[in-house]
Amino acid sequence: MSQHPKPDQQPAHIVLGVSAGIAAYKAVFLLRILQRDGFRVRVVPTPSSLEFVGRATWEGLTLESVNTDVFHGGGADHVELARGCAAIVIAPATADVIARIANGQADDLLTTTVLASDCPVVIAPAMHTQMWRAAATQENIARLRKRGYIVVGPEDGDLASGDHGAGRMSEPEVIAAHVRKAYGVSGDLAGKKILITAGGTREAIDPVRFLGNRSSGRQGIAIAREALSRGAEVTLITSNIEAALIPQGCSVIDAPSAQDVYDAVMSHLGHSNALVMAAAVADYRPRAASASKIKKEENESAPPRIELTETTDVLRSVSSSPDRPRVVLGFAAETGDQNTVLSYGAAKAKRKGADYLAVNAVGADIGFGDVPNYVYVLNQEGSVVTQGGGTKADVARILIDLISQRFDTMEA
Ligand code: CTP
Repeated sequence: MSQHPKPDQQPAHIVLGVSAGIAAYKAVFLLRILQRDGFRVRVVPTPSSLEFVGRATWEGLTLESVNTDVFHGGGADHVELARGCAAIVIAPATADVIARIANGQADDLLTTTVLASDCPVVIAPAMHTQMWRAAATQENIARLRKRGYIVVGPEDGDLASGDHGAGRMSEPEVIAAHVRKAYGVSGDLAGKKILITAGGTREAIDPVRFLGNRSSGRQGIAIAREALSRGAEVTLITSNIEAALIPQGCSVIDAPSAQDVYDAVMSHLGHSNALVMAAAVADYRPRAASASKIKKEENESAPPRIELTETTDVLRSVSSSPDRPRVVLGFAAETGDQNTVLSYGAAKAKRKGADYLAVNAVGADIGFGDVPNYVYVLNQEGSVVTQGGGTKADVARILIDLISQRFDTMEA
């Protein structure tokens, strides 16, 4: 494989090949990530993939004409696409497109472009488990690997058929990280290990009941996705998060209770460059969880009293630990008007000792769940260093930018 063009040498484009699988919708997110990275992306769908995501979507998002066959526009599209192409990424790659490429077929614009180019090719297979495991597919994949193709996934998970198994396309962030690597750009967080807590802890009252909170974990997940897509090695400590939300490509540690979060964070401190405490960790837990279910009839005279005891404050423990990572960012969920939220936030920033505290207003319908978010980021002295809002992904970008800048200043 020849040396591919480096970003500073020419304005190369990336070809995003999309074949006909239900995961084609995820290719839209991959396109957005690559565009955000500054790449010009030329989308080349196979003809039947347009059944899943139409031409109008690709043209609308790239502002370029999108073709599927070689004879459109004079017949030289594939040469023009292949020339100056820094990388080709095919996501999803169906069993059919994998077979055609492995055999050197050139029967549509995508396969012809692949044949005409000598740049790195990243493929992200997506298909039903049986098709993935079929000897023919495995032989084709082995041939492509031998030719130097980068095969990303597929992952184990729920499939569109309702089955569970290998065949699910890797997440767009993970594929994008491989594309960047193939292109020669590894992301501003390459080589950095980031520990992220996400979700809300549950403190057992008895085997069926707990004290919990309304955190869905979405903000922490968005931060993990952003860090992954920028090349970081992410360890995600999850407290009661829906499995489907957890991105692939990070190491996951399950930590249902405050004590579990404490143990998981402390055991990873020494080898983390940054910690983001996005989890809503309980401040109090029942002093002793009942070993058996608390029964109503045993408490007829009065409701049972649950004695609480304080949990360990993970963020404060980290901030004063000799193993403290280079950058520590905590969250503060506060209720009230803007002034109240900010003054609680400033007091907390001083108390917690983290480098940054992302303060946001929460309530029954703000801050928690699948809703937009707004954060003020305070430094240890309680002054606002940056602020912004939007989707949880937008907030994640603001925070990861800040962490990345902090690494830069520390390394400068
Ligand atoms: N936190 C922690 N350990 C705890 C409780 C909270 O590490 N036992 C972390 C959270 O993950 C978050 C930050 O501390 O990053 C702030 O959490 P918050 O609940 O807002 O702060 P508290 O100190 O508990 O203050 P209060 O509940 O009084 O608002």
